This record gives sequence, structure tokens and C-alpha cells, in this order.
Amino acid sequence: MKKENTKGQWGSTFGFLMATVGAAIGLGNLWGFPYKMGKGGGFIFLLIYLILVFLVGVVVTLQELAVGRKSGKGVLYAYGSVDRRASFIGLLGWLAPLFIIGFYSMLGGYTIKYLVANLGDLLHAPLGVNGADSEAYFASFYQDQVESTVYTVIFVLLIIFIIAMGIRGGIERFSTVATPALFIMMLIVIARAVTLPGAMEGVKFMLVPDWKLFTPKGIINTISSAGGQMFFSLSLGMGITVTYGSYVSKKDDLPRSAILIPLADTLAALLAGFATIPAVFAAGLDPRQGPGMLFVTLQTVFSSMGAAGPLFGMAFYILVFIAAITSAVSVLEAIVSTSLDICEHRFHYSNRVVITLLCGLFALVEGVFVSLDGLGSHGFPQIFNQSTWLDTFDLLSEGTIMPIGALFAAILFGWIKRGYLDDEISLNSKHTGMRKYFDFCIRWIVPPVMVMVLLGQISAFFGLKWFA
Ligand code: PHE
Repeated sequence: MKKENTKGQWGSTFGFLMATVGAAIGLGNLWGFPYKMGKGGGFIFLLIYLILVFLVGVVVTLQELAVGRKSGKGVLYAYGSVDRRASFIGLLGWLAPLFIIGFYSMLGGYTIKYLVANLGDLLHAPLGVNGADSEAYFASFYQDQVESTVYTVIFVLLIIFIIAMGIRGGIERFSTVATPALFIMMLIVIARAVTLPGAMEGVKFMLVPDWKLFTPKGIINTISSAGGQMFFSLSLGMGITVTYGSYVSKKDDLPRSAILIPLADTLAALLAGFATIPAVFAAGLDPRQGPGMLFVTLQTVFSSMGAAGPLFGMAFYILVFIAAITSAVSVLEAIVSTSLDICEHRFHYSNRVVITLLCGLFALVEGVFVSLDGLGSHGFPQIFNQSTWLDTFDLLSEGTIMPIGALFAAILFGWIKRGYLDDEISLNSKHTGMRKYFDFCIRWIVPPVMVMVLLGQISAFFGLKWFA
């Protein structure tokens, strides 16, 4: 049972936590959480989110870490080793990051572009925004196929480089610096955001409970939207936590990590709210813009701040860039890890650098396609009825594979192979009650929540308003 994987291991528990927390904190925390919370009932949303974190987030994180560590494999073989019939869960978990990397790389490229633009403003160089209207500036960037492709390519090359350096020497070393830096940048930006005149309106928008939503339908709607947000935010159901779990030492206390990671991710989401929404309100703008908030609304805020604007703009986009790159690294690593398993198993070939380059090339091609689509501005065919290719890729991964994979995984460990992970969960753990808690939640709570999340996602992607 004590299989160690052949690919490598984290050097320390701290390094593992920084890598996994860094992977979890991403663009989802920065724009998704704050605005969904504001739109979805403020304090009520937060309350339901927290309950879901404990009943579902912690439990599924534990399940994925345990499957990874027990098998010592990437997601495909990890589920296959539990039961051959479960291989399709592994296959789904391998496919999801393949879709995510396409649009995430493009968004990562956007973060570099805005970092450069604010640096340009700081130095009064022509690369800056130079007071242009943020909406027009953003549009001219994403419609420019050459420019947005170039930034996507730079971003993908960076993640390939980090992963090619290996688990300890690349991912862990980078995250040990980047993840704490992310929290520090966040505190700096918050200090500025909440002291702007009019910022308190934003704090109210986030926190004041909207009791009108406290109806059965409203609650179901909130559970499905908070649940979907939480899953994406914790990178669950996508093979990522399984992969990072497969590099964890047998000496580590898994339940402790499974509590710490979701807590850190939730804290980051809340901090992100305080870093962004008050500034948006102070500038008299609307936070309900979704992704546009990061690149349009907030840029307007920085452009209106006068001389200090570019400085805070830079601080902010460094933060967004770190959040994006540590997440993107985990997505590509999930793909690489399983690809390494396959090559080793089938061809007895296991050169990490070569396989990283091949998987990276694949990611690059996808990223270029999504960038060329220019958020749907070039009349490319609409796939699955989505207005942009970004949405199509997101629908396939976050919208369908993620909840379906997680639902079947919960059925597997709650019903079919009940108790299979017990030894892995209790190994060297002080949290003795966790096994029972895990068993109860994975059996009775996770499956119905996953069904609600799945329905919520489909309804949202196709504008069906099932719960609204
Ligand atoms: N968890 C990351 C975020 O919050 C995104 C992500 C999702 C990354 C799924 C990898 C896989 O943005």
C-alpha cells in the first residue's frame, strides 16, 4: 500500500501547502468570488459558502489528496487503481485541465499585458494606458490578434519553464516565494482600496445580507452558485489536487492540509473582495461586470488615481499575475503528470523535460486559438452556443466535467468503495474524528450538492435561469 510515486516529492509540508494554496488562489478568487458574493446576497452568500467549504470543500480536498497519495499517480491511473470501472473519472480529470489551460493561458497573458501597461504609465512610456478609456483600451487589446497571442505565448513559456524545473526545484521553489508574496500584495492593495473616499459603499455591497434572497428558491440558487464557485476556486474535480496529493510525503497529516488549504483559499477570496469592490464603488463604477472588472473597471480606478495610480496598478497586476501563474502551473502539471504516467507505462519513457515541452506545446496551440478568437470579436463559429471560445472551453471543463467527475468520485468513495481511503486519511494524522466525518459527508452531502452545482452550471452557461 505504501506506493511512493516515481516522479518526485515535495521537499517540505510548507512547500506543499504553498504550492497547493497558490494553485487554488487564482482568477476565480479575484473576480468570481467578490462579485458573486455581492450579487448573490452578501452575507447570506458568505454564510452558505462557508458551510459548503466545511461540508464539501474540505471533504473533497481530502478525498483528492488521499487518492493521489495512496496511488502515487496522476489522476488517470489514480482512479483506475481504485477500481478499473472508475478509470473514466480519471479520464475526465485529465481532460478538464486540457480545456482549462486554453483559456487560462490567454487570461494569464492579459495579466502580463496590464502589468506592462501600468509599468509603462509609471515610466511615462508609450506602452502605458496613458489615460485612454479603459473599455476602449481593453477592446483594442483583445481584438488585436497578434498582441494578445504574443502575451499568451509568453505566459505559456513561463509555466513550461517552471514545470520543466521539476516538482521541488520548479513548482515548490516558485510557490514558496510567490504565494506569500501574493498575500502581502493583497494587504497593500486593500490598505489603499478601503481608504478611498466612498469605499464603504463597496464593503456594504459585499456584506449586507439581502434577505429577499432568503427563500427556498433563492437558497437553492445560492447553493448552486456558491458551490460551483467553490469547486473552481479550490481546483477540485479537475485532477489538480489529486496530482499535488501524489507528491505528498507519507509522513504528512492529510486532514490537517485538507482543512488549511480551503481556509487559506477562502481567506484569499474575502481579501480579494476587500481589495477590489471598495475601489470600484469609490470610483462610482459597477462591480457586476465579472471578468471585465479586472481589466476594465479596475484599470479605470487606477487611471483615475493620479500619480499614485500606476504604482497601485502595478502592485495589483503583479498580484493578479502571481495568482494566475501559480494556478496555471498546477493545471499544466496535472496534464504533465498523467502524461508521464502514460509514457512510462506504455513506452517506458519518463523524461520530464521532453514531456513537459510536448504538453506545453499543446497548451500553446490551444491558447493561441482562444486568443485568436479575441473574445468572440472575429466572427469565429460559436461552439456549443457560447459567444466566445473562452466560454466554450470553460463550459466543457468547469461547467460539465468538473461537477460530473466530482459526483461520480463521491459515489465511488461514499457508496461503492466505502472505507477505501480510511487508512490513507488516518495515516500519521492527529485528527481522528476526520474519518467518520469524511464518510458521512462524502456519502450524504457531496452527491446532492454536486447535482445542484451541475444543474446550476448548465443553467448559467445556457442562460436558462432554472433557479432564478
Ligand atoms: N482555482 C483557480 C482559481 O480560483 C482556477 C483553477 C481552476 C485552476 C481549476 C486550475 C483548475 O482561479
